[in-house]
Amino acid sequence: MHLPDPDRYHRTPYRRTGKSGLQLPEISLGLWHNFGGVDVYENYRDILLTAFDQGITHFDLANNYGPPPGSAEENFGKILAQDLKPYRDELIISSKAGYRMWPGPYGEWGSRKYLISSCDQSLKRMGLDYVDIFYSHRPDPRTPVEETMGALDSLVRQGKALYVGLSNYTAEQTRAALKVLEELGTPCLIHQPKYSLLVREPEEALLGTLVDAGVGCIAFSPLAQGLLTNKYLKGIPEDSRAAKSTGFLQVEQVDGPTLEKVRKLNEIALKRGQSLAQMAIAWLLKDRKVTSVLIGASRTAQLMDSLGALENKTFSAEELQQINDILS
Ligand SMILES: NC(=O)c1ccc[n+]([C@@H]2O[C@H](COP(=O)([O-])OP(=O)(O)OC[C@H]3O[C@@H](n4cnc5c(N)ncnc54)[C@H](OP(=O)(O)O)[C@@H]3O)[C@@H](O)[C@H]2O)c1
Repeated sequence: MHLPDPDRYHRTPYRRTGKSGLQLPEISLGLWHNFGGVDVYENYRDILLTAFDQGITHFDLANNYGPPPGSAEENFGKILAQDLKPYRDELIISSKAGYRMWPGPYGEWGSRKYLISSCDQSLKRMGLDYVDIFYSHRPDPRTPVEETMGALDSLVRQGKALYVGLSNYTAEQTRAALKVLEELGTPCLIHQPKYSLLVREPEEALLGTLVDAGVGCIAFSPLAQGLLTNKYLKGIPEDSRAAKSTGFLQVEQVDGPTLEKVRKLNEIALKRGQSLAQMAIAWLLKDRKVTSVLIGASRTAQLMDSLGALENKTFSAEELQQINDILS
């Protein structure tokens, strides 16, 4: 069993998730990459246990995380059983269903059939009785929102999830889903959008919708999968996500115009005494509309660097203007 650091709750601040009773750490850890069957157990175990020792209580998964799909949940379950079993009640564990998980018409999207069987599979893989948050991973244009939200509500009533969330829903789709959930008596806890210095769409309407409804927001890919760090400024390192065949970041996304912006952002970060990764995370946390920033890490040193963002989350008006000028 892991012996956690007794000081862990003095390190990472927590924020209330919308108007709910649940607090989440300002930085949460996602297991999309680096925790799969293709990855090294000792490495990801160390990342996970270090995160817990730093006060990160929230770990985010999905049915398809790996590769192969499902292996991140299995590996997380192993660590939970071997190292963190006595601490289950200190953890917020989330999973999702929406993307392709098994063959045939019931293996993806938003039907009741898919969501409920997928949650059952996720619980088995992780060795859990319940997840803390279960998400609809993406909106399904061909399934009535009442059916998808009804499945989330059922999972809560069956005791398989404590809270429910939405991911990748537009502001309009979110409003429709929130209304159904409210009527069912299972209010939505949180929304998980892609949001970073390089992806600003949530600012247009989604964030306002969430605040009005008292729903939390957890921003995923805050470093744009590693682009918002200094790692690609001198080429593509061999051990980076862009270079790996299993990585979701494509080499074409590491392009000249993006790197030019990254170079300029990096200069501002250095003037602030931060790494670019730290500034990118701090920039999201400056806004109280964001409950938590959901990072990834391929090694423990990256996790520790990213946590350094918590030391300076304030920006002068001039810095914000300079950042917007670079990105416009
Ligand atoms: N709901 C959804 O549809 C959805 C979609 C995507 C992600 N997510 C969630 O969001 C989580 C985070 O996504 P993400 O992994 O794309 O997040 P990210 O934080 O934008 O990128 C993480 C990657 O950036 C690099 N990195 C991290 N910290 C660094 C540092 N301090 N210095 C230099 N490089 C650093 C590492 O890449 P290298 O491998 O190159 O070292 C790491 O794997 C996922 O695990 C998942 O839980 C959700």
